[in-house]
Amino acid sequence: MRRGSVVQLVGLAVVAATITTLVAVLVPWLPQSASRESGRIHFVYWFTTVIAIAVFATVAAVLAYSILKFRARPDDDSDGPPTHGHTTLEIVWTAIPAVLVTAISIVSAVVLAQNSHAGSNPLVVHVKAQQFAWAFTYPNGKSYGYLTLPKGRHVKLDITSQDVIHSFWVPEFSQKQDAVPGQHNTIVVTPTRVGTYPVICTELCGLGHALMRSHVDVVTPDKFAAFMKHGGSSGPPGLAVFQQNGCGGCHTFKPAGSTGTTGPDLDKLAQYAKQANRGSLAAFTKESIVDPAAYLQPGYPDAMPHVFGSQISASQLAQLVQYLDQGAK
Ligand code: CUA
Repeated sequence: MRRGSVVQLVGLAVVAATITTLVAVLVPWLPQSASRESGRIHFVYWFTTVIAIAVFATVAAVLAYSILKFRARPDDDSDGPPTHGHTTLEIVWTAIPAVLVTAISIVSAVVLAQNSHAGSNPLVVHVKAQQFAWAFTYPNGKSYGYLTLPKGRHVKLDITSQDVIHSFWVPEFSQKQDAVPGQHNTIVVTPTRVGTYPVICTELCGLGHALMRSHVDVVTPDKFAAFMKHGGSSGPPGLAVFQQNGCGGCHTFKPAGSTGTTGPDLDKLAQYAKQANRGSLAAFTKESIVDPAAYLQPGYPDAMPHVFGSQISASQLAQLVQYLDQGAK
């Protein structure tokens, strides 16, 4: 092979590699990384991307060189010379990809193993999904409709579902885990960046799927200790019941700060009760929770799960009804 050809091939490869590198680096393909596990997953992405760019540049350079140099002239109708392949070349282009794919497998396996390591003292948070909300329960027994995590500590999320299959996803944590009824799936998260990130259901689970969202607050260890001590203790007891059962996932209710639109607006509860004309406000509210199909607000389908009658205890139900009716007046 002539030296000029080598220079041309290398030049084409550099051009192809430069263009693809710019596309890879300048476009923000990945969300900001907010956990140690996510950082490792991003490393796998970049490791693979560098290999892909090198392979693409090589193939693109040979292809472009062949098109430019070995193109048949317009008046050339003759056959090309017969060839029998090139054994060394074939061995090389089989061996190199095999080595690269093996390298990616090893790096991925190491990251998977590291990411499932929760250390000796993880904070265990139970995550319960249900149509269409999340509930997060801490070791002290308190539950919230959103997640609060301390920066720098291993957190083990123990994820399950009350009804159908959902999936837990925080883009900034780079991990997804299915929430399956009767099964407990875990992921380990070690937050590295203070901030607020979305929690998204990423498995089609019914009418309110697109709105099945919450958020995670990553806070400093001091703030987290304060949250564990005092968090959620303020506010009426009915608010806690509201949050634990994920009512805000589907319903707007100003006193609770929720903005769901799958179900009727609970700020208009008193008005709806009058329209429905099914007894007192309290009786109407209670009936709508334990037997949601008994009366459907016009414009809304029978989408509310029929589980709350058995899921919420009598005393908690009374607190919830009182909370909703006070806020609705
Ligand atoms: Cu829950 Cu989609």
